[in-house]
Amino acid sequence: MPDKLNIVPFVSVDHMMKLVLHIGIERFLVELAGYIEADFRRWEIFDKSPRVASHSSEGVIELMPISDGDIYSFKYVNGHPRNRREGRQTVTAFGLLADVHSGYPVLLSEMTILTALRTAATSAVAAKHLASADADCMAIIGNGAQAEFQALAFKAVLGVRRLRLYDIDHAATEKCRRNLAGMGFEITACNSAEEAVEGARIVTTVTADKQKATILNDNMIGAGVHLNAVGGDCPGKTELHRDILLRSDIVVEYAPQTRIEGEIQQLAADYPVSELWQVIAGLAPGRRNADQITLFDSVGFAIEDFSALRYVRDQLAGTGLYEPLDMLADPDEPRDLFGMLLRAQLA
Ligand SMILES: NC(=O)c1ccc[n+]([C@@H]2O[C@H](COP(=O)([O-])OP(=O)(O)OC[C@H]3O[C@@H](n4cnc5c(N)ncnc54)[C@H](O)[C@@H]3O)[C@@H](O)[C@H]2O)c1
Repeated sequence: MPDKLNIVPFVSVDHMMKLVLHIGIERFLVELAGYIEADFRRWEIFDKSPRVASHSSEGVIELMPISDGDIYSFKYVNGHPRNRREGRQTVTAFGLLADVHSGYPVLLSEMTILTALRTAATSAVAAKHLASADADCMAIIGNGAQAEFQALAFKAVLGVRRLRLYDIDHAATEKCRRNLAGMGFEITACNSAEEAVEGARIVTTVTADKQKATILNDNMIGAGVHLNAVGGDCPGKTELHRDILLRSDIVVEYAPQTRIEGEIQQLAADYPVSELWQVIAGLAPGRRNADQITLFDSVGFAIEDFSALRYVRDQLAGTGLYEPLDMLADPDEPRDLFGMLLRAQLA
């Protein structure tokens, strides 16, 4: 890693892909899940706030800051469901890790790939505490950019081996099936969401549409199912029928944010939910019995990006998989910023 204070390591998309493949995707997901779980255990020491969102008719741009008192991080992320039609990603992101004591950035990174990895790892951590221990069949409804990451995290962390895929666009399901071929799954492509949930003990919804959608109806979810609802993550953007929520034990990341953005925006502001950190710490129940329906109402919280950036920073040493960025002005005399500018003119 660079030893000059003004040089910040930057992990490009190319370097991130090489890092993930160098570590191995499943090992990366398992180790990242470990970092995420460890940071959720330290939940109470974090300086937390709901993300700062700027909404438009097309989508949302968000800033997600957090600090543990030693390290600060933020992520810039967008969500634009219609982007795909113009050949762009629905979700793109980059993020930064900084030293709280000097305020200096210590890592700048692409986070489009890293967000897919951390979202999947977080879902798997939640399911570890909420799904039946013997659940090995998962339905994935919405087979876009996030889907394969979800599948692999559930395989690596929970041992899910059977997938039932459904997307309104059959080409997305075929893409997903093709990408996951040879990775140890038994895959069934389904023609409807109803067909996809048949026999699945875990149901992941990860669709993108800026509206109140009903991807799952109440009669589609039987006793004992764990729901991993990932796609509803904005005001006015949900995936589950309200009646499912009323039958579920609901776990969220950070209630003040999820009440604005998650499936629970459909419920009263004081509707009882547990936070994931409480379940991990044993302060709130996870799965209590075989019939219980559990719901992880995922919207994505800053602590997961903090964990992901921390994990990447820890893996970088010795790999050379970063570019040194001349990002911070560093005059010989700290107060002579202007003199440094003048000397550059003469050079
Ligand atoms: N909770 C989180 O932390 C988190 C993180 C990343 C992304 N997301 C959200 O997850 C969603 C998916 O993201 P992505 O990057 O995979 O998007 P994407 O656009 O690549 O894929 C979405 C897929 O959903 C499908 N779809 C849309 N409506 C559907 C329906 N009614 N039934 C079945 N399939 C349907 C689309 O055809 C598409 O293939 C987005 O809404 C995004 O905002 C949440």
